[in-house]
Amino acid sequence: MIVVKDVTKRFMSGKEPFWALRGVDLEIKEGEFIAICGKSGSGKSTLLNIMGSLDKPTSGNVIIDDLDLNSLSQKKLAEYRNKVIGFVFQSFYLEPGYTVYDNVALPLILAGSVGKSNHQKVEEALKKVNLLHKIKAKANTLSGGEQQRVAIARAIINNPKYIFADEPCGNLDNLNSENIMQILKTLHQNGKTIIMVTHDQEDAKKADKIYTMTDGKIINCVLSEEKEVA
Ligand SMILES: Nc1ncnc2c1ncn2[C@@H]1O[C@H](COP(=O)(O)OP(=O)(O)O)[C@@H](O)[C@H]1O
Ligand SMILES: [Mg+2]
Repeated sequence: MIVVKDVTKRFMSGKEPFWALRGVDLEIKEGEFIAICGKSGSGKSTLLNIMGSLDKPTSGNVIIDDLDLNSLSQKKLAEYRNKVIGFVFQSFYLEPGYTVYDNVALPLILAGSVGKSNHQKVEEALKKVNLLHKIKAKANTLSGGEQQRVAIARAIINNPKYIFADEPCGNLDNLNSENIMQILKTLHQNGKTIIMVTHDQEDAKKADKIYTMTDGKIINCVLSEEKEVA
């Protein structure tokens, strides 16, 4: 479970402070698939990055499975993140000159895993995104949709409990978006907890719950059957 308690985030833009998050409270239960919607600049990525331990809150706490992220050193945080969380971003962030294999294997290597078992794990992850046939291709020879599937394979290679996806379909056409959403849905059905930022209402409906952010706050939560949450 992820508990977000009264989280704020202040950025300095010039001399003026800017509050990107103004007190966010949120609970995400194990096995949920949630979508975070809201206009550009409302604080979605800031919140996702803080929940995923990529950034620190100015105040407040993020507690993942009873562990308060504020209590971890940068080094411990990086280890924890690599084991427990998989990230997918709008712009894929693959190493363009590396092969698909090397991109997907990277988190294993960071976790200190070497040897034959890596190959098997990479193959399994690539099967899940239907890209095993591209294992030897260079990342920069793939289409956008294929690159995002590689990014998802990389995100799941360490079998993380949580998957954070920030506008995973933001750079993709409809067909590729549907494909990516189907992969996320299947991961969810297989037990992953998924936290996805999107501005696409149709994609958001694939989630169990849709949270809406405005000006650094969560202002609304609906079940995706359009039912209001009490
Ligand atoms: N590193 C930063 N420095 C200064 N301002 C930032 C930084 N990151 C985000 N912001 C500001 O915080 C607000 C929220 O940003 P963000 O979380 O990226 O919004 P969203 O993902 O909803 O579009 C925006 O106004 C943005 O300009
Ligand atoms: Mg964003």
